[in-house]
Amino acid sequence: MSAESRIDDLVARMTLRQKVGQMTQPERMHITPDEVRDHHIGSVLSGGGSTPGENRPADWVEMNDAFWAASVEEGEGLLPIPLLYGVDAIHGHNNVLGATVFPHNIGLGCANDPDLMVRIARATALEILATGVEWTFAPTLAVARDDHWGRTYESYSEDPERVGTLGEAFVRGLQGDLGDEAVAACLKHWVGDGGTTGGVDQGETTCSEDELRRLHIAPYLPALRAGALSVMASYNSWNGEKCHGHRGLLTDLLKGELGFEGLVVSDWNGIDQLSDDYVEAIVQSVNAGVDLFMVPDQWRDFIDGTIAAVEAGRIPMDRIDDAVRRILRVKERYGLFERPRPAERPHSDTALFGSAAHRAIAREAVRTSLVCLKNEGGHLPVSKHARILVTGRNANDRGHQCGGFTVAWQGTSGNEHVQGGTSIWEGLHAVAPHAVLSPDASILDGESAGFDVAIVVIGEGPYAEGLGDVRSGGTVDPGSGGATPTPGPVETSQGGTPYAATLDHHLNHPEDLATLEKIRAAGIPVVTVFVSGRPVVVEHEIDASDAFVAAWLPGSEGAGVADVLLGDHDFQGTLSFSWPRTDSDRFNRGDDAYDPRFPYGFGLNAEGHRV
Ligand code: BGC
Repeated sequence: MSAESRIDDLVARMTLRQKVGQMTQPERMHITPDEVRDHHIGSVLSGGGSTPGENRPADWVEMNDAFWAASVEEGEGLLPIPLLYGVDAIHGHNNVLGATVFPHNIGLGCANDPDLMVRIARATALEILATGVEWTFAPTLAVARDDHWGRTYESYSEDPERVGTLGEAFVRGLQGDLGDEAVAACLKHWVGDGGTTGGVDQGETTCSEDELRRLHIAPYLPALRAGALSVMASYNSWNGEKCHGHRGLLTDLLKGELGFEGLVVSDWNGIDQLSDDYVEAIVQSVNAGVDLFMVPDQWRDFIDGTIAAVEAGRIPMDRIDDAVRRILRVKERYGLFERPRPAERPHSDTALFGSAAHRAIAREAVRTSLVCLKNEGGHLPVSKHARILVTGRNANDRGHQCGGFTVAWQGTSGNEHVQGGTSIWEGLHAVAPHAVLSPDASILDGESAGFDVAIVVIGEGPYAEGLGDVRSGGTVDPGSGGATPTPGPVETSQGGTPYAATLDHHLNHPEDLATLEKIRAAGIPVVTVFVSGRPVVVEHEIDASDAFVAAWLPGSEGAGVADVLLGDHDFQGTLSFSWPRTDSDRFNRGDDAYDPRFPYGFGLNAEGHRV
């Protein structure tokens, strides 16, 4: 039987309740395997930081086995259809303890190497498969146009062409030939998420259709051609209309004009923003073209509401059938019907999870993503034999160097929760035996310690989604991790307020400038390594440094920073974002009167020349 006739056959045998169950995606903490079976659930997800058991691959496999077995159980009133499990593996399988954590997308944008993207995606896919998961909500194809946006680091570039090139390579790496080493990709967030006014998360993108196509839709074209199986609707609105209810964007453009045959999934409670009346919100989003509904805890209301709306004639049966067909088509193309239970799949609990081979790819990505913005006085590379003072808040903090969406939704602080890999300090110390760590530089109090040079690792603390926004006032709706406990302390506010009111780093983190000035005053040359999820206004910090390196959010392999700083490799990274001079500076490549602090494409090598 051909795939499409198998799908037709299944759809013909399904009751309305079974169809709506297929369209429902609850969060793992809010559903049991028995409920998956009884409500014919099509998909389950883990929100950011939502993890089973001790959060080891074996715990995930056990959980997925139970969900899978429930979904394929046979019996009176049941129609076995294997469940699809989704996670945000957006920089490695970042929810899971001991996973290889790759640099966030902004760093990969600066590395700008499609072949590396394919290798990262393959390694990530294997780590996902190790846990019995089949689907990742990645890659993000946002074209972030305002650095104030808390999700800037999820974006490869402010330039749509670079986003398209790297995103396409990532999809190829994840999905491959859809065989045993593949996971399903999800392009997100459709569409215009990076173009909101002021960079407000989930905000309003105001622009002409031409501009929407040129800036925000363009990167989807190569990724769709590469066969991405799913697309996630975006929280933002376009010219006043929310994407989750936008028939023109979801159905006419994506499915019609662009010929997308896979499934559209809603974002976390994304349909709630369409109307205060939940059934009305369901009606608008189903009719607009959402197929699978990420309804973490309200899934019962979603099922009842959808059935009621169909029975009342507010949603045509054809639309339900189309949604179910698309979900089944993704399962079919992915080969889910043929795959055995998660525990019996080829890469289940594989030793490749967090392996040296995967960490080597991540380390390569770290060293190729570093961008040197200032290099004066010939202090780079630093000699391995020098007496190096390693200091700054982020010097020995694997949590901060990984950023948000790592073990916890908002990320973590300290080394405890990112298991495996090296902090930047650990990477430096492994090859520079005379290096000394003093995060607050207190070692300089009292006698002069005779350091040749200081490597000062400063920057932002971790954040995710709207809690990373930079804007004055306002509160932030909790996103997918809002319901999950955070292990350990996180330095940044999780109280529902944005990260900061300005991009001016010396106002947000005056302690960083104080550290730099203290070292300066001691007459020690300063090499600054800046850990951040976006370009930040650092005029004072650059002035106080002899060399200044943007390290972005490098992930678990801090040793990649040492590879370049200590001269085993030269700098290769160039800016995939324009770097601002002031908080109000919102330049993007190609703008009129373009005058940023550092232009798109800027980057120096160890000799101080342009890369
Ligand atoms: C985010 C998505 C994510 C989803 C599931 C939402 O809050 O916007 O990017 O895929 O949660 O965790």
